Amino acid sequence: MKVDLVIFGATGDLARRKLVPALYELEAAGLLPEGLRVIGVGRRSLAQEAYLGGLEEDLHRLIHACDAEVARKLLERFQYRQLELEANALQSLSDTLAPNALFYLALPPTAFIAASNALGEAGLAREDQGFRRLVIEKPFGADLSSAQALNDALHRYWREEQIYRIDHFLGKETVQNILVFRFANTLLEPLWNRYHLTQVQITVAEEIGLEGRGEFYDQVGALRDMVQNHLMQLFTLTAMEPPPRLESDLLHDEKVKVLRSVRPIQPEEVPRYAVRAQYRGYSAEEGVDQNSSTETFAAIKLYLDNWRWRGVPFYLRTGKRLKRKHTEIALEFRTQPQQLFRSANPDERLENNWLVMDIQPNECLNLIVQAKRPGLELHTHSITLQAHYRRETDEGLSAYATLILDVLEGDRSLFLRFDEVEWSWRILDPILKAWASPSGDLPTYAPGSEGPEAQHRLMEEGHRWRPL
Ligand code: BG6
Repeated sequence: MKVDLVIFGATGDLARRKLVPALYELEAAGLLPEGLRVIGVGRRSLAQEAYLGGLEEDLHRLIHACDAEVARKLLERFQYRQLELEANALQSLSDTLAPNALFYLALPPTAFIAASNALGEAGLAREDQGFRRLVIEKPFGADLSSAQALNDALHRYWREEQIYRIDHFLGKETVQNILVFRFANTLLEPLWNRYHLTQVQITVAEEIGLEGRGEFYDQVGALRDMVQNHLMQLFTLTAMEPPPRLESDLLHDEKVKVLRSVRPIQPEEVPRYAVRAQYRGYSAEEGVDQNSSTETFAAIKLYLDNWRWRGVPFYLRTGKRLKRKHTEIALEFRTQPQQLFRSANPDERLENNWLVMDIQPNECLNLIVQAKRPGLELHTHSITLQAHYRRETDEGLSAYATLILDVLEGDRSLFLRFDEVEWSWRILDPILKAWASPSGDLPTYAPGSEGPEAQHRLMEEGHRWRPL
């Protein structure tokens, strides 16, 4: 099959750091179609050799034990074209383009609409002889109305089925494992609801800071950068009903149902449902406004008004410059009906059971249960039953490699349908609006810490964030 992958923004960060290494992985695994050609498009004038030389250097720098033969085979597929993002310029592509083509917009979000229009006007979205697909990355807008405007603009030339919206978390195997774990085991299903669970905590903690993206990040903040997309995906996968079949649209339907069940947060309730904070020293970072009130930490509480989850709070939080990189989904079970072991140790409150799915960097399942502490007395303590999801020798593809393969194969399951994006914005819009108007001091936290003390304000009685 002849396919062209056209990468716009070929010399940019996303293309060089993520896409080309992902293509290397696929080449090494023998998963790229024989007829795949990669056309890197940029505005810069760059000789073909210089472009390929740069890519080769990147590969050797970014990939541990990079195989020169695989790299050579991959780079043979590449060519560079200097083109402006205008219909006339892009028309020159159409003569030489393969019938099947993917257009990957590895561009700043401000360029999405212009690029989509230019491709459309040049006739490149028309599927006369093969498929034409458009791949875009978050952020999909900055709030509900800008997301809708972006979507309307994309739909001028592209049908929904041609658009692949990437949330790279969905390419992570451990994230896909949430579905397998839930729906391939009968053991848990009877417990996965309000009758047995008292709270769900979803944490995506990062140790890193801005990594040179200060200017971009300062316009965006943690709620838009992480919660609207990655955390909402973890949330919907945890809360959704099983789909009738594993088909892309049926999966999306279930995820959207979750988002539509979220109890709307009223403007005056925002302080009770959302907490933001900034790490100390943030405003001195390069590219950041000195008086910036952008949040580098965000935590929210959501309630689902549906039969399975009514009354169970879902707490979601994320932050930069925290103690360590750690992503987990933790579900707490209800308290025992009777504290049988109290008489032996009256001061000891029995811990509840927890099921904790570690997503990254550890990939394991933990069941925290109570057991007898060794010794003569009848004391209890928590122990963790742990199952590692992957051994070091197990193979696997990175998130981007998985997603690129899916776009090539036309499998949309791991991409976002627009209504998912839209409903996610609907949930967060009241918080964004409240945070846009300055009110009081912004809580801060020390870099390398557990995050702000204020995060505990969200918790219902008896709940507390798990330590990182
Ligand atoms: C990106 C955010 O989408 O995800 C970054 O823009 C963040 O700010 C990154 O660091 C985290 O992804 P991962 O795969 O490293 O957990």
